[in-house]
Amino acid sequence: MGNIPQHVAIIMDGNGRWATKRGLKRSIGHKKGADNLEKLCDHIFNLGIKYLSVYAFSTENFKRDTEEVNYLMNLFVNMFTKKKKIFVKNKIKVVFSASYDNLRDDVIESMKDLSESTKDFQDHIFNICLNYGSRLEIVDMTKKIAQLCLDGKLELSSINEELITHNLYQDLPDVDFVIRTSGEERISNFMLWQSSYAEYYFPETLFPDFNNEEFDKALIVYQKRKRRFGGYDEDSTSKN
Ligand code: IPE
Ligand code: IPE
Ligand code: MG
Repeated sequence: MGNIPQHVAIIMDGNGRWATKRGLKRSIGHKKGADNLEKLCDHIFNLGIKYLSVYAFSTENFKRDTEEVNYLMNLFVNMFTKKKKIFVKNKIKVVFSASYDNLRDDVIESMKDLSESTKDFQDHIFNICLNYGSRLEIVDMTKKIAQLCLDGKLELSSINEELITHNLYQDLPDVDFVIRTSGEERISNFMLWQSSYAEYYFPETLFPDFNNEEFDKALIVYQKRKRRFGGYDEDSTSKN
């Protein structure tokens, strides 16, 4: 089956355009996107990928109309509450990379309930980035570490890359493969620290249409890439 990445991250973009193209409200696109994610998530874990991160709502998405933001928040509460049984049945541990600032209480409650109900599973880790911004995450991590230093619990000399990773919202392995749907070729404040050495792929497909077959095509692209991490090709024979 080829080399399977350990950690895949998806920037689920293009829901709005999917709906607008069909003369529908943007909210219908978000609903289609959520339905698609459900199927995709099963497929990805069945392939043996252990960690899946998805960008569901950025800190910057609060710039959108109240109607759209409210629709999305209701969709999240609905999904986390109604699909809890399925996550438990499939033994998927759900974690959130999130700032709780500005989030509604019912959204926070549904997030906490879902992560609490799935916290003992270990095989599949589903990281949902919601009210997430990589820069804010780095600011929050910096405050956490600074406080530990101020409280005398940490020496300045102990700060290293590993410690920073441990103090992000979630302590996860580096991202191997980032997929952004809809043809936009930018990162939009997503997992900057974690994706330093990731491979990137930007399919034109809008997220509601990014089905299991599209994911398999993406995986083939990943498998053809040569990762060097600043060194040589793994299969390189001429290192002199
Ligand atoms: C991604 O789709 C979902 C969120 C940002 C919440 P968009 O809503 O950004 O869709 P486009 O980019 O407008 O098509
Ligand atoms: C990034 O998409 C955020 C999510 C997919 C949740 P956006 O649609 O918000 O990004 P920009 O504004 O095009 O950069
Ligand atoms: Mg977008």
